[in-house]
Amino acid sequence: MNEWARRMKCLVDEALDRALPLESAPPEALHRAMRYAVFPGGKRVRPLLALAAALATGRRRCAAGGGFDGGDEAIVRRAMPCAIAVELVHSYSLIHDDLPAMDDDDFRRGRPTVHRAFGEALAILAGDALLPLAFEVLSGEEARRLMGFEAAASAVGELARASGSLGMAGGQAIDIVAAKRMNRPEAGDGGGNGARLHEVERLADLKTGAIIRAAVRCGAIAAGARPDELDALTRYGELFGRAFQVFDDLDDVADDGVQTFPHAMGVAGARQYGERLLAEAEEALSLFTTSEAAELHALARALGGGVA
Ligand code: IPE
Ligand code: MG
Repeated sequence: MNEWARRMKCLVDEALDRALPLESAPPEALHRAMRYAVFPGGKRVRPLLALAAALATGRRRCAAGGGFDGGDEAIVRRAMPCAIAVELVHSYSLIHDDLPAMDDDDFRRGRPTVHRAFGEALAILAGDALLPLAFEVLSGEEARRLMGFEAAASAVGELARASGSLGMAGGQAIDIVAAKRMNRPEAGDGGGNGARLHEVERLADLKTGAIIRAAVRCGAIAAGARPDELDALTRYGELFGRAFQVFDDLDDVADDGVQTFPHAMGVAGARQYGERLLAEAEEALSLFTTSEAAELHALARALGGGVA
């Protein structure tokens, strides 16, 4: 992880800390569970993507003379509500994903999952509370002042859609239904490898890609992206998001899920595919100079190098 990412992680953590109710505020147990889910956290990839997209956009706006001044720091401040809103949605989704009714995992990030530490009811409620907190942040006074009413409203819409039945929640539903189908062999697998790869891609684009795409788009919107910039960054976000799931699957081949890239195309094939997606993601940045999009390039390379 490079110096920029380390510095941004600190700022992101500070902003998350400010957004979350104190553990001493009642209901204490719920607030403890929420904070347990968010801190110390994981790689914070989604906030970094939002900030990197904002920097690329904001620097290009400045170079075009139509931007705002204050440099990188001002751009980061503007995009921070988007960065933390996306991480709050991500944190909620991991709590619910780990529940017995979903993946039934006892450990995450090297310690007990939220339901193992606090019980199922509080885990469900902590997720229930983190999701709306994301939208409270995005639509709040500070976000509106920093990025303007219009951008804040757009970001709310982006994140809402990416979280819902046509995004992450929809992807999780497809995953669950597919897993059930695999447990009933008489229902058959249908199609060959080709059909299955298509399904794996669709699943990845929804359950993982939608939020990553939204992170990039929200960051760009916060920095005043023009339509051509937003299109280019959207493409980057979609390719990065799919690649992210490819490498996540590769990290976890032993887990032997059925709807995974290594399962559909082999370990070597999946690795090659992931690398190609990242190369294409970097190509999608051609509208920006290398220095404008430096962090987006670095994030793509870090993911390919397994250090994201
Ligand atoms: C894990 O996401 C779940 C997926 C969507 C693949 P991350 O790998 O970003 O998890 P953390 O936040 O870094 O722990
Ligand atoms: Mg899962």
